[in-house]
This record gives sequence, structure tokens and C-alpha cells, in this order.
Amino acid sequence: MVSEPILNTIKAARRIVVFSGAGLSAESGIPTFRDDLVGLWQQYDPEELASSEAFAKDPELVWGWYEWRRSRLAQAQPNAGHIAIAQWQQHYPLTIVTQNVDNLHERAGSYSVIHMHGDLNKAYCSQCKHPHPLVAAPANLPPEGARIQPPQCELCQNWVRPGVVWFGESLIDADLRAAIYAAENCDLVLAIGTSGVVQPAALIPYWAKEKGAIVIQINPNESAIDVVSDFNVRQSAAKVLPFIVQAMGYN
Ligand code: APR
Repeated sequence: MVSEPILNTIKAARRIVVFSGAGLSAESGIPTFRDDLVGLWQQYDPEELASSEAFAKDPELVWGWYEWRRSRLAQAQPNAGHIAIAQWQQHYPLTIVTQNVDNLHERAGSYSVIHMHGDLNKAYCSQCKHPHPLVAAPANLPPEGARIQPPQCELCQNWVRPGVVWFGESLIDADLRAAIYAAENCDLVLAIGTSGVVQPAALIPYWAKEKGAIVIQINPNESAIDVVSDFNVRQSAAKVLPFIVQAMGYN
């Protein structure tokens, strides 16, 4: 499943960054971002919908999509990959940097997760940025989704927007700085389930490599991370991660 050299590299590492993408959540039934457009949103390109322009033009369409995604996430469960990372973190100070906007790392028991692209379960005012606490995701949405009027900000009454980073927006400064610091101060990056195409998140392995870290990729397919990875494990995360954690003696 995983070769001795890879296991020895992981065992020898002292400061490990887990860098996760949509492929880690795929086995929890969370389609990757680009596969997530059905029903009402089928005719849209995700990058059209995941933008402040789309939200300004049609807030109900965009808010409905995010509520539909949030309600599906509420019904999903962390998979064996998320759980293995959480077990690992109980024994070892892993830094987890994720591109995922789901909360499956946290629901598996991981903590201090750095979300580079925000969090589906967070929201804030589209104008004054005042945080807006979200109630439980709607449970009975039609399978094809629905247009939903966003909540209004309690301070300025403007529409509340999802707490995710949209295309064309810059990342939240504190999250980006934390991710860069982690990458530049680790000796191993475990890049799991990411195509490595969306920057600046996709630079995490490169920033680490520049400082002498080793990069191990877990992805059944080739990706843009291949050029920077020292080892490639061509298997699914949900299968490999429990094996690694067991080999480390952490479960
Ligand atoms: N285990 C490991 N990797 C997997 C698995 C699996 N079971 N299933 C799929 N993959 C891999 C795919 O081969 C692919 O390379 O996960 C990767 C998912 O790539 P993307 O869908 O592009 O997801 P990601 O890299 O996280 O996208 C980055 O772009 O879509 C936007 O903002 C969104 O955060 C997202 C960012």
C-alpha cells in the first residue's frame, strides 16, 4: 500500500503539514467543486456562481446553491481519511491546511484547521462584513435545489453572503499568512486529494520545497502537484491514511 521509504520519511519528519483538497472529501460523498452543479444550477459554470458579481446579480440563486451544498454537507460524514488524520493529530502536532470549505476535518476531531478558501458553515454581511451566525442547514430542500433569499445583516440590513473565498477575491490574510508560515517551517508536506490548479493555495508544496521540505502526494490520478512531489501514492486517501496511521502506531 505504502512503500518503506515513504513510511520511513514520514516517521523521520518532525514538522508535518497536511495539505488537503476536495479529493479527501470525495469519499464522504461531497462532489468536488466542479461536479457540484445539478438541478437549478446545472446550466452554470461554478466559477460563474462562486463570485461576488453573481451574488450581486442574483443573491437568491447563489445563496440557494450554498445552502443546498451546506445541507448536503450536514448529511455527510467524515470518512476514514479524515478520521485517520484526526487520530494522527492526537499523537503528533500536525498542521492541517485545507482548500475545502467543508468542516469534515473538524467533525472527525481535528483542530486548528487552516481554511484557505473559507468555510461553508460561516457567513458575513456582503457590505459591512459583520459576521452572521448560521442556523442549522435547511433539511428539506428539493433535490434540484431552490432559490433562497439570503438573511439580512443585523447591523446594516444588507444581504449576508457565504463565508467562502470566491473566484477573483483574495484569500483571508490571516489564513494565507498562517498557511505560508506552516509551509515554510515544515519538513514534510502530505498533499492529499488536490489537483494543485488553484493558486495561491496550490503553491503550498512549492513554498515548502523551497525551504527543503519533502513532498508526498496522495492522489489516485496525476495532478499539477506531481512536478513538485518526491513521492506519489496513487491510491485513495480513505484507504492509505488509515494504513499510514497504523504503521505509525497511532491507532
Ligand atoms: N483520494 C485522493 N485524491 C482523490 C480522491 C481520493 N479518493 N478522489 C479524487 N481525488 C483527487 C482527484 O484526482 C483530483 O486531483 O482529488 C483532486 C480534486 O481536485 P479538485 O476537484 O480540483 O479539488 P481541489 O484541488 O481541492 O480544488 C482546489 O479549486 O475548486 C476550487 O475553491 C475550490 O478549493 C477548491 C480549489
